Amino acid sequence: MTLTLSILLILTGITGIHSITTVDKVSVKAGASISIPCLYSSQYRNHVKYLCAGYYWPTCSYAIKTNQRQSSGKYSISDDKTQNIFIVTIKHLADGNTHYWCAVEIDQGPDVRQYFQLFGTRGEPRVKVAQQEVTGYNGENITINCQFTDPGKLKWCKLGRTCVTEKPGLIDGTKVSIKSNSDVFSVTMSGLRPESAGWYWCVKGDFQMPVHLTVTEKPTATPDPVTADGKMTTVNDEPNRSESFH
Ligand SMILES: *[C@@H]1O[C@H](CO)[C@@H](O)[C@H](O)[C@H]1NC(C)=O
Repeated sequence: MTLTLSILLILTGITGIHSITTVDKVSVKAGASISIPCLYSSQYRNHVKYLCAGYYWPTCSYAIKTNQRQSSGKYSISDDKTQNIFIVTIKHLADGNTHYWCAVEIDQGPDVRQYFQLFGTRGEPRVKVAQQEVTGYNGENITINCQFTDPGKLKWCKLGRTCVTEKPGLIDGTKVSIKSNSDVFSVTMSGLRPESAGWYWCVKGDFQMPVHLTVTEKPTATPDPVTADGKMTTVNDEPNRSESFH
């Protein structure tokens, strides 16, 4: 064995571990869309990223790549190089289990990859949120409700960081507390900061549901209650909003 080959093997052995972090299992309503974030090590920032479909790695087929035109309506991919996260979106999810790999292309050597599984269901997804994309205001609180069907441990995790369970804790300096009842748990993040933004997931038992949090400045309230067409603005109390818990 040549020296360069040994070095290459050692390097791939080291970098091959935990180079991509993503979900494990996600349950989704059949026909719906889902976005999955894949966190990669910073040394892969300028590499090509792709989604590969199939249970076995050697025989999986490219679903979408960052260096190819996104012609298919089923898949899309975007690479957030400042966060070292690429996001794959899969539309019209099939009924039943589908198998995927988040992968990073390596020029000379095996591509780096991480497996995940999607469970398309006609029934209730195991863990679900009203929307995957949420926005909170700097300095304020946000509550995210994770509905679930299965028993098991509940958690709220930030991708690549840490998790909080029933006991209140901190994620990136933001206070997180969780309240739960029989089929929903509510995660409250208090005192949002710009660093609070990013990808999180609800976990219940074996299943996760990714949620993306954007933190913006609260728009300054307009004192004028009269709209442009001269009518008074009416504010509804929305008593049926299932997302709000107190
Ligand atoms: C935000 O959460 C904190 C608890 O962490 C609470 O004391 C505070 O009242 C909350 N603020 C609002 C506006 O709900």
